[in-house]
Amino acid sequence: IQPRILTLSGSTRSGSYNTKLAALVAKHLALGMSEVTHISLVDYPLPLYDGDLEANQGLPKNAQILKKLILKQDGIFIACPEYNAGVTPVLKNAIDWISRPSEQDEPPGVAFKNRIFALGAASPGAHGGMSGLIGMRTILEVGLGATVLPQMVVVSRAATGFNLKGDLNDDRAAAYLEGLTDTLASESLRLVSVR
Ligand code: FNR
Repeated sequence: IQPRILTLSGSTRSGSYNTKLAALVAKHLALGMSEVTHISLVDYPLPLYDGDLEANQGLPKNAQILKKLILKQDGIFIACPEYNAGVTPVLKNAIDWISRPSEQDEPPGVAFKNRIFALGAASPGAHGGMSGLIGMRTILEVGLGATVLPQMVVVSRAATGFNLKGDLNDDRAAAYLEGLTDTLASESLRLVSVR
């Protein structure tokens, strides 16, 4: 059995450090036995959440696609950019849309239950986006009842953090990332075995 794991970049920026981080996690997971899918929110543009839009047109196509994709996974790694010490609007908006029911009797947040989340962030600052991760954990755990691994990886001073192969220059950060990735893979595998 293979766990299915999604790595998702919450940035839409070309040259995004968070896309590099999510790609690195995907690369490491692919060395193991996980079936890995790597995506970026740049490929799933969404309108800003609006209750009237939802009432009139239902979930936008890209929200439905993202939700179905997440429902297929056992584990999800999200690379979260940080703006002003919080979660960015693009990432929060995607989560808000994905959390909405697609069918009448569906409870909110189904895509966030019964799978394991892991979080990471990369930023040019000294703290690597850690404040945004705290906000993200609150959204997932308190808001959506998700299970989130306690470990979180941050890549600080990200402008010089990655080498040309996309690996981390800092050995300690690299070791931490590999540990987190291995834990995500083993916890996802454990989930598969009890499904
Ligand atoms: C930032 N950035 C930032 N970085 C950080 O570490 N802490 C912060 O509070 C902020 N605040 C912030 C606010 C706004 C409005 C912008 C536009 C940017 C910098 C941010 O981390 C940087 O733009 C990263 O490059 C964003 O991630 P991606 O797009 O490279 O993945």
